[in-house]
Amino acid sequence: MGDLKFNVLRALAENKGFLSGEELAKSLGVSRTAVWKSVEALKKMGYQIDAVPKRGYTLLKSPELLLPYEIRLKLKTKILGKEIVYFKRVSSTNDVAKDLASKGAPEGLLVLAEEQTKGRGRMGRSWFSPLGGLWFTLLLRPTISPEKVPLLALMLGVGVARGLSTLGLKCRLKWPNDVLINGKKVCGILTELDAEMDRVNYVIAGIGINVNNEVKDFPSEFKPSATTVKEELGREVYRVVLLTEILKELESMYNAFLRGNRELVLNEWRRLSSTLGRRVKVVSRDRIVEGEALDVSKDGALIIRLKNGSLEEILSGDCLHLGEGET
Ligand code: BTN
Repeated sequence: MGDLKFNVLRALAENKGFLSGEELAKSLGVSRTAVWKSVEALKKMGYQIDAVPKRGYTLLKSPELLLPYEIRLKLKTKILGKEIVYFKRVSSTNDVAKDLASKGAPEGLLVLAEEQTKGRGRMGRSWFSPLGGLWFTLLLRPTISPEKVPLLALMLGVGVARGLSTLGLKCRLKWPNDVLINGKKVCGILTELDAEMDRVNYVIAGIGINVNNEVKDFPSEFKPSATTVKEELGREVYRVVLLTEILKELESMYNAFLRGNRELVLNEWRRLSSTLGRRVKVVSRDRIVEGEALDVSKDGALIIRLKNGSLEEILSGDCLHLGEGET
């Protein structure tokens, strides 16, 4: 049957009312039996399709899965997600993306999974990735030098926050790119790099968003500081639409970044920041810096004023917001 069922699905998804078997068969250049077989196959996959004699077929409900052809139906981007690799369950989408990148996969490749068994977080932590979340990785191949990557990392947080805002959620960013809602973490981003001294080969942007999952199921150490879209909205959301909105925002920010429009990225980050103006403690590989977060530099470094008044710029690390119970 090949792609026929997806063509039938597309036709049904794009049509609000009923489509007769005859119309479908004619427009797709196949027999009515072939259409019927496709509909049966789609039903087996979890699509609810009503079949009424003399009226035809109508799509009532799609399965809440991140199936690539569902994503393609809604995708509004030119680069991100043009190629999709999908898993029901995988160790880590970042690991798969890295492997495919080393084999020459193209810019914009999207690797996603319903569930990760070895999801990885920043600073060597693990990332809890049960069913219901959005766990995905984008492969980027910007022609930039490695110093530009921290700004790219900020840009990723901005794109996700803007995408989540389309649901009416008020998102803020904790440096560098944690997305918070009401002070709690809804999304974490793991940016990994393959580079030479002066040139980036590729960037692996791993994005984990708690969507239809629940905090009560989280490992106890993450419970106090985590939230999910479902809990903030009081309802579940259709993840395919959310993902395509996020990809759209990410692509628009990525294009601005590639055009060299740093100010747009930085100003969006500043506008959404919950870090600036706060007392922070940043733990990086070789030091711990405590002070007031003043601004971000043009390279994406956090500028901190220390107790003695001097300024420090930190390019990467884990940021803790001090006081007010926020992490
Ligand atoms: C963080 O520690 O805040 C970053 C978490 C990043 C998690 C995402 S989920 C998709 C991708 N695959 C992984 O193994 N990690 C990232």
